[in-house]
Amino acid sequence: MHLSSTVLMAAAGAVAQSTVDLSDLPAFLKSSSSTNWPTLLSIGQQIWNDPEVGLDETHAHDRIVNYLSSLSGWTVSGSAYASNGLPTAFRAEFDNRPSGFTGTLPTVGFLAEYDALVGIGHACGHNLIALNGISAATFASEALVHYGIPGRVIIVGTPDEENAAGKFKLNNLDAFADSDVWLMAHPTTTSAIQPMNARLNYFTSFVGSTHSEAVAKAYNAMSIVQNLTGLPGTSSSAVSIENVGVYATNIVQTVIDLGVAGLSLATVNSTVAKLLDSTYPNVTFTATTDANGVAITMNGPGGHASDATKGPLVLSINTYNALKNTPGVSFYLPSNTSISELDITIDMRTRYTTDLNSVANFVSAALGTLPKSVSHDVQYPSLEVDPYLGQAFIDLTETPDYQLGNFPSSTFAPASTDASWVQDPVIDSVTHKLTSAAKAVLHANYGICPNASGAGCAFNHEPLFKNLANTALAYSQTEIVARAEAQIAVQLLADPSEMAKATAILSK
Ligand SMILES: *[C@@H]1O[C@H](CO)[C@@H](O)[C@H](O)[C@H]1NC(C)=O
Ligand SMILES: *[C@@H]1O[C@H](CO)[C@@H](O)[C@H](O)[C@H]1NC(C)=O
Ligand SMILES: *[C@@H]1O[C@H](CO)[C@@H](O)[C@H](O)[C@H]1NC(C)=O
Ligand SMILES: *[C@@H]1O[C@H](CO)[C@@H](O)[C@H](O)[C@H]1NC(C)=O
Ligand SMILES: *[C@@H]1O[C@H](CO)[C@@H](O)[C@H](O)[C@H]1NC(C)=O
Repeated sequence: MHLSSTVLMAAAGAVAQSTVDLSDLPAFLKSSSSTNWPTLLSIGQQIWNDPEVGLDETHAHDRIVNYLSSLSGWTVSGSAYASNGLPTAFRAEFDNRPSGFTGTLPTVGFLAEYDALVGIGHACGHNLIALNGISAATFASEALVHYGIPGRVIIVGTPDEENAAGKFKLNNLDAFADSDVWLMAHPTTTSAIQPMNARLNYFTSFVGSTHSEAVAKAYNAMSIVQNLTGLPGTSSSAVSIENVGVYATNIVQTVIDLGVAGLSLATVNSTVAKLLDSTYPNVTFTATTDANGVAITMNGPGGHASDATKGPLVLSINTYNALKNTPGVSFYLPSNTSISELDITIDMRTRYTTDLNSVANFVSAALGTLPKSVSHDVQYPSLEVDPYLGQAFIDLTETPDYQLGNFPSSTFAPASTDASWVQDPVIDSVTHKLTSAAKAVLHANYGICPNASGAGCAFNHEPLFKNLANTALAYSQTEIVARAEAQIAVQLLADPSEMAKATAILSK
C-alpha cells in the first residue's frame, strides 16, 4: 500500500509528521537491491581486484562515476575536487522533487572510500565501504521516487582515508556542508556501534656519523617508544614503524631486516631463537651470513599499527636490546648499508582528541634530542558514537529484515577514521560525553568474519584481512548494511520530526 505522493505536514501547532506509510519499505529496499545488486557487487569486486592507493584511485573513481552516471536522475561530478589536489574525489546528487513541492529538499549524504593499502591491497576492506555507499544511495534514491518523498541523496567519494586524511581536505572545501547527516559503514572482524580513536603520526629522522650509528639511534628510539609506560589520556598508544622498504603510515610491517656485525651466525641465531617465544604469534625468522655480518629477516602477521600484537618489528627491537651492550657488536640494515639516516614513524593514538597533544608531548620528551627532526601529519580527531543514528542502526539490526547477528553498542575504539573530520565532535572536558557535533555521522563497524566473535580472523590492515574483504559473507553483510542505511535515510527524509531528532546534536 502506497499513500499519497506528497508529504503533508500535520496541523499547525502539532509536530510535523510524515504521512507516508513506510511499513513496506524493508520489502521495497529488498526488491531494489535484487534488481541492482549484481551490478553493484561487480563494482565492489572490481575495486578489490584492482587495488589503488590513496589519491591514485582513478579506476575506482571511474567505475563508480560511470555507474552513477548510468542511472537516471543523478547529477554526477567526477573529479569534483581535482583543482584542489583531490583528483579521485567525486560528488553525486539525486533530487526527488514531486510536482507541487516547492520547499527546501531535506538531504542525507553517504560517504564512500576506495583506497587500498600500500603493498597489500584491500586489507582494510574499502572496496566494501564504496560498495556500501553506492548501494545505500541507489536504494534510497529509488525509494524516494517510489514513495513520492521529496528529498535529496548525496554521495561524496572520499579518497585517501588511510594516509593523508582526504576527508580533512574535503571538509575544508565544504564538501559536506550541504547535508546535516552522513552515513557510512566500515567492515571489520566484529560488529559494533563504537567510537574511533584520535590519531597523530610523528615522522622522526635519526642521523649518525656512520651507518651503524644511525641504525643504533633509530633502534634506541624505537626501544624507548616500546618501553613507554604511563602515556597520558585513555587507552593511549605509541607504536613505531620503520620507514624502510615497502612501508607506509598505517600499514602492517610484516617483514623487518636487521643486520648484526661482530658476532657469529650461531650466536645471533640462538639469541633470536631464545627471544622468539609464544608471545610472538606466527613470527618466524631466518639468519644468514652476508658481506657485513649476520642478516636476520623477521616475518610475521605484524599487527594493526596500534595493536598489542608482538610482530617482527618488536622482535627486531628486542634483538637489538639483547645484543646492544655486547662488546664489538654493531647493527646495520642489510638492504642498504650506505645510508646514515633512518626514519621512523611513530603512530600515536588516544581515545579522545583532547589528549592527543599531551600524548605527543610525552613521546617527544621521552625521545629528547635523539631525533634530528620531527614533523607530523594531520591529526584524526576521535569519532564519537552519534546517539540517534547509532541507536537507529542497532534497532534495525534487531528486526528480521536486517539480520547481522549481535550488533552491540561498545565504548571500545578499535582504530581511527578520517570521518571524524566530518563529524567534528565536541566533548565535555570532564565527562567526555558528546555535547555537539558539526554533523550527525553514522560509522557502523560491521563484522565480516565467519565467527561473529572475530576468532580466527585477521584484523583490518593485516594482510589476511584482504581475503576476508572479498568473500561472499563480506558482500552479503555489506548488502544488508546498505539496505539498513538506506532505510534510515528514507525515514529521515520522509519525516521531519525524525530528521529533527537526528540533527538535535548539531552545533548550530
Ligand atoms: C627497554 O626495556 C628493555 C627490557 O627491559 C631493555 O632491555 C631496554 O634497554 C629498554 N630500552 C631503553 C631504551 O631503555
Ligand atoms: C638457528 O636456530 C634454530 C633453532 O635453534 C635451528 O633450528 C637452526 O638450524 C639454526 N640456524 C642456523 C643457521 O644456525
Ligand atoms: C640506499 O639509500 C639511499 C638513501 O636513501 C638511496 O639513495 C639508495 O638508492 C639506497 N640504495 C639501495 C640499494 O636501496
Ligand atoms: C567462535 O569463537 C569462539 C571464541 O573463540 C569459540 O568459542 C567458538 O567455538 C567459535 N565458533 C565457531 C563456529 O568457530
Ligand atoms: C597463525 O597462523 C595460523 C595458521 O595460518 C592461523 O590459523 C592463526 O589464526 C594465526 N594466528 C595469529 C595470531 O595470527
